[in-house]
Amino acid sequence: MSKNQLLELYEELDESNAEEELPLHKRLFQKRESKKQEMDAKLFIRAQEISREFQFTYKAARFEEAWLLDSLVEIAEHKWISDVLRKVKGGKEASVYLCKSGVAVDAPLLAAKIYRPRMLRNLKNDQQYRVGREDLDENGNIIVDDGALHAMQKRTAFGEEVRHRSWIAYEFTTLEILHAAGADVPKPYAMEKNAILMGYVGDLSNAAPALNSINLTVDEARPLYERVIRNVDLMLTHGRIHGDLSAYNILYWNGDITLIDFPQVVLPDSNPASWNIFFRDVTRICQYFSAQGVDCDARTLASDLWTSHGYKLVKEVDPKYLDAEKPEDRLIWKKQK
Ligand SMILES: Nc1ncnc2c1ncn2[C@@H]1O[C@H](COP(=O)(O)OP(=O)(O)O)[C@@H](O)[C@H]1O
Ligand SMILES: [Mg+2]
Repeated sequence: MSKNQLLELYEELDESNAEEELPLHKRLFQKRESKKQEMDAKLFIRAQEISREFQFTYKAARFEEAWLLDSLVEIAEHKWISDVLRKVKGGKEASVYLCKSGVAVDAPLLAAKIYRPRMLRNLKNDQQYRVGREDLDENGNIIVDDGALHAMQKRTAFGEEVRHRSWIAYEFTTLEILHAAGADVPKPYAMEKNAILMGYVGDLSNAAPALNSINLTVDEARPLYERVIRNVDLMLTHGRIHGDLSAYNILYWNGDITLIDFPQVVLPDSNPASWNIFFRDVTRICQYFSAQGVDCDARTLASDLWTSHGYKLVKEVDPKYLDAEKPEDRLIWKKQK
C-alpha cells in the first residue's frame, strides 16, 4: 500500500466517530492492513497508559489521540506543557497544537509541532534539501555512528527513522541558532521524538495568520519587507537558507512577523543547488511584497545578498576539469579568478 493510501486510511479513521461503526468495506480494508494495525495497537496500549496520567483539554479523535499522547508524553513529563488546548493546524507533514505551558517554561502558551509518524508522512521530496547536510540525531548532534549511516543509505526501516529524526532535528537546531542570533523566529523549548515545542504566536482564541492572507498598505508593508530581508540576511550569516520561504511560512501578529517551518533548511556552502533554492525563496518573498506595492527586484536583491556573504553566482569549476587549449574553458577560468 502506498504512503498516500495509508495517509487516507489514517484520515478516514480519524474522521470516524468513536461510537460510529465503520462501513463493512472499510472494516475489511482495515483488516488487511495488519502491519498498520499492529502499530496502532501498540500506540493505543501506550496511549491508554499515558492518558491515565495526562488528561488534556483537547479531545482528539481516537487515532490522533494515540499519536498525540505518544508524541507529547515526554514533553509533559518534563513539565514543559501542562495541557493541550486545541489543534491549531493539521497538515500533511505535521500538525500544530496550542499548549498551556508547564512550570518549566517562562511563556504562558506554546506551540507543539508534531510530525506524522514516519511511515504516514507524505514525504515531500526531501532529497534536494538534504544534499550536503550531515544527518543529526535526536539531540541535534551530527551522526557519526556507522550503523545508523549505513542503515540510512540502505533505506532500512531503522534508517528511515533516523532520517526522519534528522529532518526534525534540523528544524529544531535551526530555531536554536536563529533565535540565539536575534532572528524573528519562535523560541525553541524542546525536541522529543517527533515533536518540537516552541513559542506560540497568537492568543488563546486565535493563532497568528500567515502573511499571505494579510493585505497591507505600502507603508505597513515596507518595514515588514525590510524585516524579512534582515532575517534572510541573518540566516545567510549563520549558514542557512530557509528553503521553503514564502508568505505562507511567515506569521503576522500585532504588526510583527515570525518566520516558521525550517526542516528543509539548506546549507549554502555544501549544497550545489543552494543558489537556486535561495533565489526561489527571495523571489517568493518579492512576489508577496510586490503585490502589497513594495518595489523589489528579486534577482538584484538575491544576488546582492548572496555575493555580500562571499558566495559566487557562477558555480565554480575545478581547474582540473578545464582545458587551457579551449577558449570557452579559459573564459570560465578567468571569471572564477
Ligand atoms: N509557533 C507557532 N505559533 C502559532 N502557529 C503556528 C506556529 N508554528 C506553526 N503554526 C501554524 O501551523 C501551521 C503549520 O506549521 P508549519 O511549521 O508551517 O508546518 P507545515 O507547513 O510543514 O505543515 C502554520 O502555517 C501555522 O498556521
Ligand atoms: Mg508551513
